[in-house]
Amino acid sequence: MRAFRGEAIRLSSVWVAYSGSGRPAIKDVSLTVGMGKFVLLTGPNGAGKTTLVETCLGILKPLKGVAELLGVNTKSIKVVEVRKLCSYVPQDFMRPPYEFYTAGHVIKLGLAPLRPPLPYVDNLNDRVEEVANLLGIRDLLDKPIGALSGGQQQKVFIARALVRKPKLIFLDEPFASLDRGSRELVARIVRDYVKRENATALVVSHDTSTISNLSDATVEMNGGRILKVEGDLT
Ligand SMILES: Nc1ncnc2c1ncn2[C@@H]1O[C@H](COP(=O)(O)OP(=O)(O)O)[C@@H](O)[C@H]1O
Ligand SMILES: [Mg+2]
Repeated sequence: MRAFRGEAIRLSSVWVAYSGSGRPAIKDVSLTVGMGKFVLLTGPNGAGKTTLVETCLGILKPLKGVAELLGVNTKSIKVVEVRKLCSYVPQDFMRPPYEFYTAGHVIKLGLAPLRPPLPYVDNLNDRVEEVANLLGIRDLLDKPIGALSGGQQQKVFIARALVRKPKLIFLDEPFASLDRGSRELVARIVRDYVKRENATALVVSHDTSTISNLSDATVEMNGGRILKVEGDLT
């Protein structure tokens, strides 16, 4: 993949409001995150964390201000292209019990944006197995996704996010269904990935204890604003 030397994320005085909602969900937020960073985004329910993530991805557009993803204004049509270099594991990922496609299928779908011509993927199944081994879910690959526990599904969706080797990865509450040991495992895998590939991860979690010692920086939000930044974002 072409090396990217600019900033991963740049928000300049961004305001975001949901249509029909009287008040903005994000107010005058400015944030710059460089490449190679593992960043924790924290704050209470309703603080605006998910809104911020979806604004970075260009799923939500700023009412005022400018949002840039990998150097591209999210209001530009080119955002569709840079979004292919990003992975997003949303907050509510659980699949219903009747869904029969396997964990292996789900992980492989993470490679879909690379088609065609899959320039740097020699063997799809090797890639899927490699990432499944990393997360310790090799034995789940042939199981129907709907039959897996919340924690197992969470690992499958994190594997799907990593399999395409994104430049930027957004994880929204990825630890919610995981036990303590799995939280640390997942946090370390993502951190090591970021450092190895010079990628950037923005991880939303209230559970600061799991990753605050691994992260380069912590961003704390409340009431749609950034209250505090600790550490090194760039
Ligand atoms: N789809 C939506 N429509 C209207 N308001 C929303 C919607 N999603 C979130 N909000 C509001 O935006 C604010 C921020 O929400 P959110 O970004 O989900 O917070 P967090 O992820 O930190 O819990 C909250 O006041 C919430 O009620
Ligand atoms: Mg949220």
